[in-house]
Amino acid sequence: MAADTSWWTEARLGLFIHWGLYALAARHEWVKNRERLTDEHYQRYFEHFFPDLFDPERWAQTAKQAGMRYVVITTKHHEGFCLWDSDLTDYKVTRTPWGKDVLEPALDAFRAAGLRVGLYHSLIDWHHPDFPLDGLHPQRDDAAFIEKAGGREMSRYREYLHGQVRELLTRYGRIDYLFFDFSYADRTWGGKGPAEWGSEQLLAMVRELQPDVIVNDRLGIPGDFVTPEQYQPAAPLRRDGRPVPWEACQTLNDSWGYDRDNLQYKTGGMILRMLIDGVSKDGNLLLNVGPTGRGKLDPRAPAILAEIGDWMELHVRSVYGCGASPFPPPPDCRYTQRGDRLYLHLFAWPYRHVHLSGLEGRVRYAQFLNDASEVKLQVIEPGQQAQNTRLGGLPDGTLTLELPTVAPPVAVPVIELFL
Ligand code: GLC
Repeated sequence: MAADTSWWTEARLGLFIHWGLYALAARHEWVKNRERLTDEHYQRYFEHFFPDLFDPERWAQTAKQAGMRYVVITTKHHEGFCLWDSDLTDYKVTRTPWGKDVLEPALDAFRAAGLRVGLYHSLIDWHHPDFPLDGLHPQRDDAAFIEKAGGREMSRYREYLHGQVRELLTRYGRIDYLFFDFSYADRTWGGKGPAEWGSEQLLAMVRELQPDVIVNDRLGIPGDFVTPEQYQPAAPLRRDGRPVPWEACQTLNDSWGYDRDNLQYKTGGMILRMLIDGVSKDGNLLLNVGPTGRGKLDPRAPAILAEIGDWMELHVRSVYGCGASPFPPPPDCRYTQRGDRLYLHLFAWPYRHVHLSGLEGRVRYAQFLNDASEVKLQVIEPGQQAQNTRLGGLPDGTLTLELPTVAPPVAVPVIELFL
């Protein structure tokens, strides 16, 4: 039975946290794959993992102030390094110089801040001795390594995978959300998917251990929501002709893990427009940050999250619990709607008027959401012709809003329409 996703669709905005040994390389979380790094080379990051500035309460407050209502943190990424004290491996944070579990204090801090908690767990493991080599493995071109790796048993890795998921779902209290990553069964060079992961059994175990958790679609079998990544859907997503819950996961600068020299940062305004656009299409946004090896958020993240938070503080009710509207929005605008409240988000600022289709006689009152200042409605008589300074020539049923020349001082102006 599908889980109850209502808290999650209500929340609309979450924080994704990608943290691991790759934060010390500081060159993207796929650095081991991209640079074909050996375990021996990569061990330097293990031996220097000491996040002395790790402050999960601060992470939680940053997320909350940005208007985020859930946080999803990596437990283990493709590198195989575990952020919790797993019984099944020594490749874990409690064996590094830091010596302490970081997952537990993080989850405790998120919950204490009133946030829902989610785990990201990689199905892929480039460190595990039984993970069969494939076209993604860092040693995919290393003939000697491939020779030695011949005896790897997927069944042993599958047992490890299921065992660790069991640890995560039985040791840290209620988990609200699970992001498995990722299946690639269709690849010709040793792809892996539901059969290799044991996805049906794994999902059944998840449902048994945490009946209320919502699970994504990357086990390679249907989950509770789908996960477009690094693009924004052009319309509400559907599966087999039916609407499907979806969440776009997005980075600040195209890297999930801390990537020191990558300056391709999205602006707060761009991210807000992505969030609003997604909500207007019944979707969520999971926005990622990649903490550094010291345990602080990426140095450029707080300012961007603060800009998002400034807008969310004034406009949160045009996002939380909202979804698509049946009304067609004007050019350069998006509608989000919750019951009898319709929110007009203006991505561009038109001169003096914005014309709403099909809403004549449907709107009781209109105001700017940022300061609750009235927005005057103007009804153009059906068939009225434009004449000199008189508006006209608009389709019947048009409702016109009168706008000031200067937009409100917010990243995305929003007009709240009371239907
Ligand atoms: C892709 C990337 C992975 C990242 C994930 C986030 O699967 O390979 O590094 O964690 O997207 O959705």
